[in-house]
Amino acid sequence: MKRIVILASGTGSLAEAIFNADFSEQGGEVVALICDQPDAQVLKRAEQRHVESYTIPMLPDREQWNKELETLIAALRPTLVVSAGFMRILPKEITSRFKIINSHPSLLPLFPGAHAVRDALAAGSHETGTTIHWVDAGIDTGQIIVQEKLAINSDESEESLHERIKIVERGLIVATIRRLLPTLES
Ligand code: GAR
Repeated sequence: MKRIVILASGTGSLAEAIFNADFSEQGGEVVALICDQPDAQVLKRAEQRHVESYTIPMLPDREQWNKELETLIAALRPTLVVSAGFMRILPKEITSRFKIINSHPSLLPLFPGAHAVRDALAAGSHETGTTIHWVDAGIDTGQIIVQEKLAINSDESEESLHERIKIVERGLIVATIRRLLPTLES
């Protein structure tokens, strides 16, 4: 069985799309959610879908947090780790040890970081989109796997644009996991 571990921090609509998807044809299964925010809505979504969840709140000692996260991921023996709205930069000890993909709400390399949708609007862009990429130790710098474009409407708010991007992200992340699983060793 190919084991999928999800990382998420917030609402968890991407995580939910993954929880609801069936990866049995690819020999895959979502085995756990890891969250860094004890009150995040994604934890409730995991509970409702009977997905085991683990919370690792940030510690004053970042190195200690990095080690705890690495130990937990290793114990879950993932074939693939999926960062789906996880708002932390992963250290190189983790990015070099595990196969990790991330969904990001812009057309990378444009607008990396935590405010990609806001930054695209502030730059006056007429289009944006979403990128799924392999995660390396940089900020949204890893190799791009797939992108999908989206036109920005005039006078569009950050919230409405982000919602439209997330609709695309949910489909793309599930399709990408399905595409990658057969290429990965369990
Ligand atoms: C998604 O748009 C995801 O790409 C973004 O957070 C949102 C999570 O939505 N991630 C980043 O910006 C990471 N840099 P959700 O909580 O509804 O799944």
